[in-house]
Amino acid sequence: MSKVHAVYPGSFDPLHNGHLDVIERASKVFNIVTIAVLNNSQKKNSMFTPNERIKIINKACSHLTNIEVESFEGLLVKYVQKKEARVIVKGLRTIADYEYEQLMAHINRYLLPDVETVFLLTDPRWSFVSSTRIKEIANYDADISGLIPEATQMALLDKLNS
Ligand code: PNS
Repeated sequence: MSKVHAVYPGSFDPLHNGHLDVIERASKVFNIVTIAVLNNSQKKNSMFTPNERIKIINKACSHLTNIEVESFEGLLVKYVQKKEARVIVKGLRTIADYEYEQLMAHINRYLLPDVETVFLLTDPRWSFVSSTRIKEIANYDADISGLIPEATQMALLDKLNS
């Protein structure tokens, strides 16, 4: 049977434990998982550059052997096609995520019918965690070490002290 290549796309600004859990679980299900970091040049309020985000993910995922981390620009389906992947992986925290992701999955399947979106339910431990909240709380110097990998914690400390 041919190897199944999955792409897990996102902003990852920055990586948190919910993302890491999805990556670890996807890496057990698929032969190779590409973590695709959106490089959105129009988005001016990112905290980390795409390269900084890639570095954090690589550090946090150094124990996984079947993943790669890259950035992409433009339409996700074009990137997935270029990678010759068969699956798009998404994590679902809530019904609100589901409603949004359902539309995205339909659009992506309309554009690229041979690729399936596979949803992994976020572990309940991380169902309230988002990158937006992590950045907000980190700005107030509160302890969020239980919600993010060590690599993210280090990068946040560097960023906030620079
Ligand atoms: O972590 P995020 O910010 O929820 O990730 C969103 C992402 C990167 C998966 C989504 O914005 C995306 O796929 N962007 C690329 C543009 C695209 O293909 N849009 C879908 C068709 S309208």
